[in-house]
Amino acid sequence: MSECKQASVDDVLILAIESSCDETAAAVVKNGREVLSNVIYSQIALHTVYGGVVPEIASRKHVEKINQVIESALEQAGVTLQDITAIAVTYGPGLVGALLVGVAEAKAISFATGIPLVGVHHISGHISANYIEHQELKPPFACLVASGGHSHLVVVKDYGQYEIIGRTRDDAAGEAFDKVARAIGLGYPGGPKIDKLSKEGNPDAIAFPRAKVAENEYDFSFSGLKSAVLNYLNSCQMKGEEVNQADVAASFQKAVIDVLVDHSIHAVKEFGFDKFAIAGGVASNASLRAALQEACDREGITFYHPSPALCTDNAAMIGTAGYYEFIKGVRHGYDLNAVPNLKLDEV
Ligand code: KG4
Ligand code: ZN
Repeated sequence: MSECKQASVDDVLILAIESSCDETAAAVVKNGREVLSNVIYSQIALHTVYGGVVPEIASRKHVEKINQVIESALEQAGVTLQDITAIAVTYGPGLVGALLVGVAEAKAISFATGIPLVGVHHISGHISANYIEHQELKPPFACLVASGGHSHLVVVKDYGQYEIIGRTRDDAAGEAFDKVARAIGLGYPGGPKIDKLSKEGNPDAIAFPRAKVAENEYDFSFSGLKSAVLNYLNSCQMKGEEVNQADVAASFQKAVIDVLVDHSIHAVKEFGFDKFAIAGGVASNASLRAALQEACDREGITFYHPSPALCTDNAAMIGTAGYYEFIKGVRHGYDLNAVPNLKLDEV
Protein backbone atom coordinates (compact mmCIF):
# COMPACT_ATOMS: atom_id res chain seq x y z
CA MET A 1 0.00 0.00 0.00
CA SER A 2 1.30 3.47 -0.82
CA GLU A 3 1.83 5.98 1.96
CA CYS A 4 -1.34 7.86 2.78
CA LYS A 5 -0.94 10.47 5.50
CA GLN A 6 -4.65 11.13 6.04
CA ALA A 7 -5.78 7.55 6.59
CA SER A 8 -4.92 4.41 8.52
CA VAL A 9 -5.49 0.84 7.27
CA ASP A 10 -8.79 0.64 9.20
CA ASP A 11 -10.23 3.68 7.48
CA VAL A 12 -12.78 3.28 4.70
CA LEU A 13 -11.77 5.52 1.80
CA ILE A 14 -14.40 5.99 -0.88
CA LEU A 15 -13.55 7.30 -4.34
CA ALA A 16 -16.83 8.85 -5.52
CA ILE A 17 -17.85 9.72 -9.08
CA GLU A 18 -20.82 11.91 -10.11
CA SER A 19 -21.83 12.70 -13.70
CA SER A 20 -25.65 12.68 -13.71
CA CYS A 21 -26.14 16.13 -15.27
CA ASP A 22 -23.74 18.96 -16.11
CA GLU A 23 -21.06 18.62 -13.42
CA THR A 24 -18.19 16.16 -13.84
CA ALA A 25 -17.18 15.43 -10.26
CA ALA A 26 -14.96 13.15 -8.18
CA ALA A 27 -14.16 13.10 -4.46
CA VAL A 28 -12.36 11.09 -1.82
CA VAL A 29 -14.30 10.66 1.42
CA LYS A 30 -12.94 9.08 4.62
CA ASN A 31 -15.24 7.07 6.89
CA GLY A 32 -18.33 8.65 5.36
CA ARG A 33 -18.04 12.08 6.91
CA GLU A 34 -14.60 13.51 6.19
CA VAL A 35 -14.05 14.98 2.74
CA LEU A 36 -10.38 14.66 1.70
CA SER A 37 -11.03 16.14 -1.75
CA ASN A 38 -14.04 17.32 -3.76
CA VAL A 39 -13.29 18.24 -7.38
CA ILE A 40 -15.99 19.62 -9.68
CA TYR A 41 -15.65 20.52 -13.32
CA SER A 42 -18.75 22.61 -14.02
CA GLN A 43 -20.05 22.64 -17.60
CA ILE A 44 -22.49 25.49 -16.91
CA ALA A 45 -20.73 27.98 -19.22
CA LEU A 46 -21.03 25.52 -22.13
CA HIS A 47 -24.79 25.09 -21.69
CA THR A 48 -25.63 28.73 -20.88
CA VAL A 49 -25.60 29.73 -24.56
CA TYR A 50 -28.37 27.17 -25.24
CA GLY A 51 -30.49 28.27 -22.26
CA GLY A 52 -30.33 24.83 -20.59
CA VAL A 53 -28.41 21.56 -20.40
CA VAL A 54 -27.84 19.92 -23.82
CA PRO A 55 -27.58 16.17 -22.99
CA GLU A 56 -25.26 15.28 -25.89
CA ILE A 57 -22.82 18.07 -25.04
CA ALA A 58 -22.91 17.05 -21.35
CA SER A 59 -22.02 13.42 -22.17
CA ARG A 60 -19.15 14.39 -24.47
CA LYS A 61 -17.69 16.79 -21.92
CA HIS A 62 -17.93 14.16 -19.17
CA VAL A 63 -15.90 11.76 -21.37
CA GLU A 64 -13.29 14.47 -21.95
CA LYS A 65 -12.96 15.52 -18.30
CA ILE A 66 -13.63 12.49 -16.12
CA ASN A 67 -10.10 11.06 -15.96
CA GLN A 68 -8.61 14.46 -15.14
CA VAL A 69 -11.19 15.10 -12.42
CA ILE A 70 -10.56 11.69 -10.79
CA GLU A 71 -6.78 12.17 -10.93
CA SER A 72 -7.13 15.59 -9.27
CA ALA A 73 -9.40 14.15 -6.56
CA LEU A 74 -6.87 11.43 -5.72
CA GLU A 75 -3.96 13.86 -5.83
CA GLN A 76 -5.66 16.50 -3.66
CA ALA A 77 -6.57 13.81 -1.11
CA GLY A 78 -2.94 12.64 -1.10
CA VAL A 79 -3.90 9.05 -1.94
CA THR A 80 -3.58 6.62 -4.84
CA LEU A 81 -6.03 3.99 -6.08
CA GLN A 82 -4.22 1.46 -3.89
CA ASP A 83 -5.53 3.27 -0.79
CA ILE A 84 -9.16 3.25 -1.95
CA THR A 85 -11.56 0.82 -0.23
CA ALA A 86 -14.52 1.19 -2.62
CA ILE A 87 -15.69 3.16 -5.63
CA ALA A 88 -19.11 4.83 -5.35
CA VAL A 89 -20.83 6.07 -8.48
CA THR A 90 -24.16 7.75 -9.24
CA TYR A 91 -26.18 5.38 -11.45
CA GLY A 92 -29.47 7.31 -11.47
CA PRO A 93 -31.60 9.31 -11.77
CA GLY A 94 -30.27 11.74 -14.38
CA LEU A 95 -29.44 12.06 -18.07
CA VAL A 96 -28.77 8.57 -19.38
CA GLY A 97 -25.75 9.47 -21.54
CA ALA A 98 -24.22 11.53 -18.75
CA LEU A 99 -24.77 8.81 -16.12
CA LEU A 100 -23.26 6.17 -18.43
CA VAL A 101 -19.92 7.97 -18.51
CA GLY A 102 -19.53 7.84 -14.71
CA VAL A 103 -20.84 4.28 -14.46
CA ALA A 104 -18.54 3.00 -17.24
CA GLU A 105 -15.56 4.77 -15.67
CA ALA A 106 -16.29 3.34 -12.20
CA LYS A 107 -16.73 -0.16 -13.62
CA ALA A 108 -13.48 0.10 -15.59
CA ILE A 109 -11.48 1.19 -12.53
CA SER A 110 -13.11 -1.49 -10.39
CA PHE A 111 -12.40 -4.19 -13.02
CA ALA A 112 -8.78 -3.12 -13.46
CA THR A 113 -8.00 -2.87 -9.73
CA GLY A 114 -10.45 -5.24 -8.02
CA ILE A 115 -11.75 -2.39 -5.82
CA PRO A 116 -15.44 -3.05 -4.94
CA LEU A 117 -18.10 -1.06 -6.77
CA VAL A 118 -21.13 0.58 -5.10
CA GLY A 119 -23.91 2.24 -7.12
CA VAL A 120 -25.51 5.28 -5.45
CA HIS A 121 -28.86 7.03 -5.92
CA HIS A 122 -28.24 10.71 -6.76
CA ILE A 123 -30.92 11.99 -4.36
CA SER A 124 -29.63 9.76 -1.57
CA GLY A 125 -26.36 11.60 -2.21
CA HIS A 126 -28.03 15.02 -1.91
CA ILE A 127 -29.64 14.03 1.41
CA SER A 128 -26.35 12.55 2.69
CA ALA A 129 -24.57 15.89 2.08
CA ASN A 130 -26.08 16.86 5.45
CA TYR A 131 -23.92 14.28 7.25
CA ILE A 132 -20.68 15.91 6.11
CA GLU A 133 -20.94 19.15 8.06
CA HIS A 134 -23.22 17.89 10.83
CA GLN A 135 -21.31 15.03 12.43
CA GLU A 136 -24.04 14.64 15.06
CA LEU A 137 -26.86 14.15 12.54
CA LYS A 138 -28.22 10.60 12.42
CA PRO A 139 -31.49 9.20 11.05
CA PRO A 140 -34.41 9.30 11.58
CA PHE A 141 -35.26 12.81 10.44
CA ALA A 142 -37.37 14.58 7.80
CA CYS A 143 -35.79 16.12 4.71
CA LEU A 144 -36.95 18.43 1.95
CA VAL A 145 -35.24 17.59 -1.35
CA ALA A 146 -35.52 20.43 -3.86
CA SER A 147 -33.41 20.10 -6.99
CA GLY A 148 -33.72 20.60 -10.74
CA GLY A 149 -35.58 17.32 -11.16
CA HIS A 150 -37.12 16.63 -7.73
CA SER A 151 -39.26 18.21 -5.03
CA HIS A 152 -39.71 15.53 -2.39
CA LEU A 153 -40.59 15.50 1.27
CA VAL A 154 -38.78 12.48 2.61
CA VAL A 155 -38.65 10.57 5.87
CA VAL A 156 -35.06 9.37 6.28
CA LYS A 157 -35.74 6.15 8.19
CA ASP A 158 -32.12 4.99 8.28
CA TYR A 159 -28.97 5.55 6.22
CA GLY A 160 -30.04 4.98 2.60
CA GLN A 161 -33.63 4.11 3.59
CA TYR A 162 -36.30 6.53 2.53
CA GLU A 163 -40.04 6.99 2.51
CA ILE A 164 -41.40 9.69 0.23
CA ILE A 165 -44.37 11.42 1.86
CA GLY A 166 -44.77 14.27 -0.65
CA ARG A 167 -43.71 14.84 -4.23
CA THR A 168 -44.31 17.26 -7.06
CA ARG A 169 -47.26 16.64 -9.35
CA ASP A 170 -45.64 18.54 -12.22
CA ASP A 171 -42.55 20.79 -12.28
CA ALA A 172 -39.80 20.42 -9.67
CA ALA A 173 -38.96 23.54 -7.66
CA GLY A 174 -35.61 24.04 -9.47
CA GLU A 175 -37.28 23.52 -12.83
CA ALA A 176 -39.77 26.31 -11.97
CA PHE A 177 -36.86 28.61 -11.03
CA ASP A 178 -35.14 27.82 -14.35
CA LYS A 179 -38.28 28.33 -16.47
CA VAL A 180 -39.28 31.60 -14.78
CA ALA A 181 -35.71 32.91 -15.04
CA ARG A 182 -35.78 32.21 -18.77
CA ALA A 183 -39.17 33.95 -19.13
CA ILE A 184 -37.93 37.14 -17.44
CA GLY A 185 -34.74 37.07 -19.50
CA LEU A 186 -32.22 36.04 -16.86
CA GLY A 187 -30.97 32.92 -18.65
CA TYR A 188 -29.55 29.64 -17.34
CA PRO A 189 -29.11 28.54 -14.59
CA GLY A 190 -32.15 30.30 -13.23
CA GLY A 191 -32.04 29.50 -9.51
CA PRO A 192 -28.91 31.43 -8.52
CA LYS A 193 -29.90 34.37 -10.77
CA ILE A 194 -33.40 34.68 -9.26
CA ASP A 195 -31.89 34.28 -5.77
CA LYS A 196 -29.55 37.25 -6.45
CA LEU A 197 -32.02 39.52 -8.25
CA SER A 198 -34.75 38.91 -5.63
CA LYS A 199 -32.68 40.80 -3.09
CA GLU A 200 -33.42 43.98 -5.08
CA GLY A 201 -37.16 43.29 -5.47
CA ASN A 202 -40.32 43.44 -3.39
CA PRO A 203 -41.59 39.91 -2.57
CA ASP A 204 -45.09 41.28 -1.96
CA ALA A 205 -45.31 43.29 -5.20
CA ILE A 206 -47.27 40.66 -7.18
CA ALA A 207 -49.72 38.16 -5.66
CA PHE A 208 -48.73 34.87 -7.31
CA PRO A 209 -50.66 31.71 -6.31
CA ARG A 210 -49.64 29.18 -3.62
CA ALA A 211 -50.93 25.84 -4.90
CA LYS A 212 -52.38 23.15 -2.65
CA VAL A 213 -52.86 19.59 -3.90
CA ALA A 214 -56.20 18.24 -2.64
CA GLU A 215 -55.29 14.51 -2.60
CA ASN A 216 -52.09 14.81 -0.57
CA GLU A 217 -51.34 17.80 1.65
CA TYR A 218 -47.57 17.18 1.31
CA ASP A 219 -47.49 17.10 -2.51
CA PHE A 220 -46.30 20.09 -4.51
CA SER A 221 -47.42 21.69 -7.76
CA PHE A 222 -45.43 24.49 -9.35
CA SER A 223 -46.74 24.57 -12.93
CA GLY A 224 -49.70 26.84 -12.02
CA LEU A 225 -47.30 29.32 -10.46
CA LYS A 226 -45.10 29.22 -13.55
CA SER A 227 -48.18 29.87 -15.77
CA ALA A 228 -49.23 32.75 -13.49
CA VAL A 229 -45.82 34.38 -13.99
CA LEU A 230 -46.04 33.90 -17.77
CA ASN A 231 -49.59 35.35 -17.80
CA TYR A 232 -48.43 38.32 -15.76
CA LEU A 233 -45.56 38.98 -18.21
CA ASN A 234 -47.92 38.67 -21.21
CA SER A 235 -50.47 41.02 -19.73
CA CYS A 236 -47.78 43.62 -18.98
CA GLN A 237 -46.58 43.33 -22.57
CA MET A 238 -50.11 43.74 -23.97
CA LYS A 239 -50.78 46.77 -21.80
CA GLY A 240 -47.38 48.24 -22.72
CA GLU A 241 -46.35 48.27 -19.04
CA GLU A 242 -42.73 47.91 -18.08
CA VAL A 243 -41.88 44.73 -16.16
CA ASN A 244 -39.93 45.13 -12.94
CA GLN A 245 -37.76 42.01 -13.20
CA ALA A 246 -36.62 42.16 -9.57
CA ASP A 247 -40.22 42.37 -8.28
CA VAL A 248 -41.28 39.41 -10.46
CA ALA A 249 -38.25 37.39 -9.27
CA ALA A 250 -38.84 38.23 -5.60
CA SER A 251 -42.61 37.61 -5.73
CA PHE A 252 -42.18 34.30 -7.57
CA GLN A 253 -39.44 33.17 -5.18
CA LYS A 254 -41.60 34.07 -2.17
CA ALA A 255 -44.48 32.00 -3.58
CA VAL A 256 -42.20 28.94 -3.96
CA ILE A 257 -40.65 29.42 -0.52
CA ASP A 258 -44.01 29.85 1.24
CA VAL A 259 -45.20 26.48 -0.11
CA LEU A 260 -41.91 24.66 0.62
CA VAL A 261 -41.79 26.01 4.19
CA ASP A 262 -45.48 25.41 4.87
CA HIS A 263 -45.45 21.78 3.66
CA SER A 264 -42.13 21.00 5.37
CA ILE A 265 -43.06 22.32 8.81
CA HIS A 266 -46.47 20.69 8.61
CA ALA A 267 -44.89 17.30 7.78
CA VAL A 268 -42.17 17.56 10.46
CA LYS A 269 -44.78 18.32 13.13
CA GLU A 270 -47.29 15.73 11.91
CA PHE A 271 -44.66 12.97 11.85
CA GLY A 272 -43.29 14.05 15.23
CA PHE A 273 -39.70 14.81 14.23
CA ASP A 274 -37.50 17.35 15.97
CA LYS A 275 -34.86 17.27 13.21
CA PHE A 276 -35.32 18.63 9.71
CA ALA A 277 -32.80 18.85 6.84
CA ILE A 278 -32.80 20.25 3.32
CA ALA A 279 -31.00 19.02 0.22
CA GLY A 280 -30.57 19.68 -3.50
CA GLY A 281 -29.63 22.72 -5.58
CA VAL A 282 -32.61 24.85 -4.48
CA ALA A 283 -31.53 24.29 -0.85
CA SER A 284 -28.67 26.72 -1.54
CA ASN A 285 -31.26 29.52 -1.94
CA ALA A 286 -30.50 32.17 0.70
CA SER A 287 -34.12 33.25 1.31
CA LEU A 288 -35.36 29.65 1.55
CA ARG A 289 -32.69 28.84 4.13
CA ALA A 290 -33.55 31.97 6.13
CA ALA A 291 -37.30 31.25 6.02
CA LEU A 292 -36.81 27.61 7.09
CA GLN A 293 -34.42 28.61 9.86
CA GLU A 294 -36.98 31.09 11.20
CA ALA A 295 -39.84 28.58 11.02
CA CYS A 296 -37.76 25.82 12.67
CA ASP A 297 -36.64 28.18 15.47
CA ARG A 298 -40.26 29.11 16.08
CA GLU A 299 -41.34 25.46 16.26
CA GLY A 300 -38.37 24.15 18.27
CA ILE A 301 -37.07 22.04 15.38
CA THR A 302 -33.32 21.65 14.78
CA PHE A 303 -32.61 22.72 11.19
CA TYR A 304 -29.78 21.13 9.18
CA HIS A 305 -28.52 22.38 5.83
CA PRO A 306 -25.37 21.66 3.84
CA SER A 307 -23.26 24.68 2.86
CA PRO A 308 -24.32 25.94 -0.61
CA ALA A 309 -21.42 24.22 -2.44
CA LEU A 310 -22.55 20.86 -1.05
CA CYS A 311 -26.21 21.50 -2.00
CA THR A 312 -25.59 21.58 -5.75
CA ASP A 313 -24.22 18.52 -7.56
CA ASN A 314 -20.89 17.23 -6.23
CA ALA A 315 -19.20 13.88 -5.65
CA ALA A 316 -18.49 14.25 -1.89
CA MET A 317 -22.20 13.65 -1.19
CA ILE A 318 -22.03 10.48 -3.34
CA GLY A 319 -19.01 9.35 -1.31
CA THR A 320 -20.95 9.80 1.94
CA ALA A 321 -24.04 7.95 0.68
CA GLY A 322 -21.75 5.29 -0.86
CA TYR A 323 -19.97 4.77 2.47
CA TYR A 324 -23.22 3.89 4.25
CA GLU A 325 -24.17 1.50 1.42
CA PHE A 326 -20.69 -0.07 1.53
CA ILE A 327 -20.73 -0.72 5.28
CA LYS A 328 -24.22 -2.27 4.89
CA GLY A 329 -22.59 -4.74 2.49
CA VAL A 330 -23.97 -3.37 -0.78
CA ARG A 331 -21.79 -4.31 -3.80
CA HIS A 332 -22.64 -3.95 -7.46
CA GLY A 333 -21.42 -6.14 -10.29
CA TYR A 334 -20.14 -5.17 -13.73
CA ASP A 335 -23.72 -5.35 -14.97
CA LEU A 336 -24.43 -2.07 -13.12
CA ASN A 337 -26.23 0.17 -15.59
CA ALA A 338 -27.40 3.78 -15.72
CA VAL A 339 -31.05 4.06 -14.63
CA PRO A 340 -32.33 7.51 -15.70
CA ASN A 341 -35.57 7.29 -13.68
CA LEU A 342 -34.28 5.38 -10.64
CA LYS A 343 -36.75 5.70 -7.73
CA LEU A 344 -35.57 6.76 -4.28
CA ASP A 345 -37.81 4.39 -2.35
CA GLU A 346 -36.95 1.38 -4.52
CA VAL A 347 -33.15 1.21 -4.12
O1 KG4 B 1 -29.34 19.48 -7.22
P1 KG4 B 1 -28.94 20.19 -8.45
O2 KG4 B 1 -27.57 20.82 -8.52
O3 KG4 B 1 -29.08 19.26 -9.69
C1 KG4 B 1 -30.11 18.34 -9.82
O4 KG4 B 1 -29.98 17.21 -9.25
O5 KG4 B 1 -31.14 18.72 -10.44
O6 KG4 B 1 -30.06 21.29 -8.68
C2 KG4 B 1 -30.05 22.16 -9.75
C3 KG4 B 1 -31.24 23.08 -9.61
C4 KG4 B 1 -31.41 24.01 -10.80
O7 KG4 B 1 -32.77 23.98 -11.17
C5 KG4 B 1 -30.99 25.35 -10.24
O8 KG4 B 1 -31.64 26.44 -10.87
C6 KG4 B 1 -31.41 25.23 -8.79
O9 KG4 B 1 -31.08 23.90 -8.44
N1 KG4 B 1 -30.66 26.15 -7.94
C7 KG4 B 1 -31.24 27.12 -7.21
C8 KG4 B 1 -30.18 27.83 -6.60
N2 KG4 B 1 -28.99 27.25 -6.95
C9 KG4 B 1 -29.31 26.21 -7.77
N3 KG4 B 1 -32.52 27.46 -7.04
C10 KG4 B 1 -32.79 28.51 -6.25
N4 KG4 B 1 -31.84 29.26 -5.65
C11 KG4 B 1 -30.53 28.96 -5.78
N5 KG4 B 1 -29.59 29.69 -5.18
ZN1 ZN C 1 -28.54 16.94 -8.10
